[in-house]
Amino acid sequence: MSNIESLQTELAGKNPRKVLRHVLDNYANVAISFSGAEDVVLIDMALKIRQDIQIFSLDTGRLHPETYQFIEQVRKHYNIEIELLSPDYQQLEAFVKQKGLFSFYEDGHKQCCAIRKVAPLKRKLATVDAWITGQRKDQSVDTRQNIPEIQVDPAFATDSHQLIKFNPLANQSSAQIWDYIEAYQVPYNKLHQQGYISIGCEPCTQPVLPNQHERAGRWWWEETTKKECGLHIAK
Ligand code: ADX
Ligand code: SF4
Repeated sequence: MSNIESLQTELAGKNPRKVLRHVLDNYANVAISFSGAEDVVLIDMALKIRQDIQIFSLDTGRLHPETYQFIEQVRKHYNIEIELLSPDYQQLEAFVKQKGLFSFYEDGHKQCCAIRKVAPLKRKLATVDAWITGQRKDQSVDTRQNIPEIQVDPAFATDSHQLIKFNPLANQSSAQIWDYIEAYQVPYNKLHQQGYISIGCEPCTQPVLPNQHERAGRWWWEETTKKECGLHIAK
């Protein structure tokens, strides 16, 4: 069994704070990937353990105004830096020139996500030893049931860069996350007051109806098995 596998056995099902403590004690060069939604709890928990943690968001250029305002609110509330990563302008300009601003409704979100999210993420991940995400199993019965607390990154690790990915919230439910937000008075994105649960880019996110699954509001015109943008899928 590799070190990572035995560590996974050790951390499986542990409280997110235990997982975070392990990461923050053992990896100096680690970053939290913050989407501007309820994964703000990762920031709240991590800062109680270590102040110098790197935090970044992928600024696709298509986030809701409320999400930009929230990112700014989080920056000020915790007095932290949040690195906003932009897409490569040459790739983006060529893409928009060729396909316009809403091509994802016609031929799927993959190409736009590749330019606006995945490439900037890849650039950032090349500079760290580990990253921390807010992925949870309960976010998708189709694509997220096997998320471990710790793994060698299935999409971005290379032979020369053994990138480790931590998912401290893997076994948390949405209800537990919202209990934490309430109990510790953590700031949250105002879109959550308007029926949004899972929040991504503005053109690709809708509020959901009562009893609809949270990811029903993401890329709603596509099949549930395709509702991943490339940040978290295996190669
Ligand atoms: S996505 O792949 O469908 O967009 P989701 O919105 O469920 O992901 O978020 C899961 C985790 O992916 C977040 O907790 C965060 O760690 C990371 N993530 C998603 N979107 C972003 C973003 N724009 N910037 C930084 N991290 C993100
Ligand atoms: Fe483009 Fe939509 Fe993907 Fe955002 S979520 S990068 S707008 S396809």
